[in-house]
Amino acid sequence: MSILLTGGAGFIGSHTAVELINAGYEVIIADNLANSNKKVIDRIEKITGTRPKFYEINVAVKEDVYKIFDENHIDGVIHFAGFKCVPESTRIPLKYYRNNLDTTLTILEVIEERNCRALVFSSSATVYGDKNPVPLKEDMPTGSSTNAYGSTKLMIENIIKDVSRASKDFSAVLLRYFNPIGAHPSGLIGEAPDGIPNNLMPYVTQTAIGVRDHLNVFGTDYNTHDGTGVRDYIHVVDLAKGHVAAIKYATEHVGVEAINLGTGKGSSVLDVVHAFEKANNMNIPIEYGERRPGDVDASYASVEKAAKLLNWHAEYTLEDMCKHSWNWQKNNPNGYEDK
Ligand code: UD1
Repeated sequence: MSILLTGGAGFIGSHTAVELINAGYEVIIADNLANSNKKVIDRIEKITGTRPKFYEINVAVKEDVYKIFDENHIDGVIHFAGFKCVPESTRIPLKYYRNNLDTTLTILEVIEERNCRALVFSSSATVYGDKNPVPLKEDMPTGSSTNAYGSTKLMIENIIKDVSRASKDFSAVLLRYFNPIGAHPSGLIGEAPDGIPNNLMPYVTQTAIGVRDHLNVFGTDYNTHDGTGVRDYIHVVDLAKGHVAAIKYATEHVGVEAINLGTGKGSSVLDVVHAFEKANNMNIPIEYGERRPGDVDASYASVEKAAKLLNWHAEYTLEDMCKHSWNWQKNNPNGYEDK
């Protein structure tokens, strides 16, 4: 079976490519490298022994996506392509609406025209908003978003649901990711943020390597066990395996399902820092600061639906995530810019 990964050179896409190849799928990657690096393709080949077919295109451009469908038989699409920087989306919202919606609309039109009926969409736990109690369950109402990035995820979920209502043979899985961290155990692929990281783990690893002199802990008065924000951190390889299960599910069913990919376990900022220090035997200097606007006290997943429908659950521990994040960072201090 051949699966097209839009945005397949990115952090989650590249790990998913590896797990799909390991599971026997043929992988085709389409990516415009807006936020990724071509070396990822070599690294995927190095890990798996198989080189995925790679198209350097913008998946918003229909003619270019047609070309992929003309040259390959595509059984399913996993749609990752999209911008993901929350603060940037607040500063330049139209960039996010234009890109994230355009790429999705093109993919939806082409898969309909070419009769490819299985789609997995890269959604986010951000769609739950800040009004629902934890653990977050798929049938809870989706919330309103405080940023354009989150709004595009919610809008795209709704667009896909509309397409499904209009088309009986269409199948989609909306994967709501919690907080993916870690890296492939080989240290060959991992997260390579552009500039100052917004997310916790890349900031911790850059502090560990000395690029940043300390970690700012955003807020100490949250309603959590130690006052710092609680999130559901999930190893990116577990997340990638969740995609393999989801595309299998999508090719065997019709209709739309939203499914959480998380561990079901919440860890605070300080839990993560301490786990990182212990796993890697090092000290992370921290400074306590103000809350970051838009952050919630706690967010973690209900994982029952993923277990039931996908027969999937996360296996790696927080210690593994910390070890593998550091292994990637220390072997690639400048991301994919080295070697
Ligand atoms: C963020 C986004 C979310 C997006 C996700 C993608 C916001 C408000 N939310 O989630 O929409 O889907 O990234 O991965 O940006 N923290 C620090 N210091 C730091 C960085 C983070 O203390 O330098 C804290 C945060 O306050 C939070 C936790 O670490 O409590 C996790 O933050 P982060 O990694 O940015 O993820 P989310 O905010 O959960």
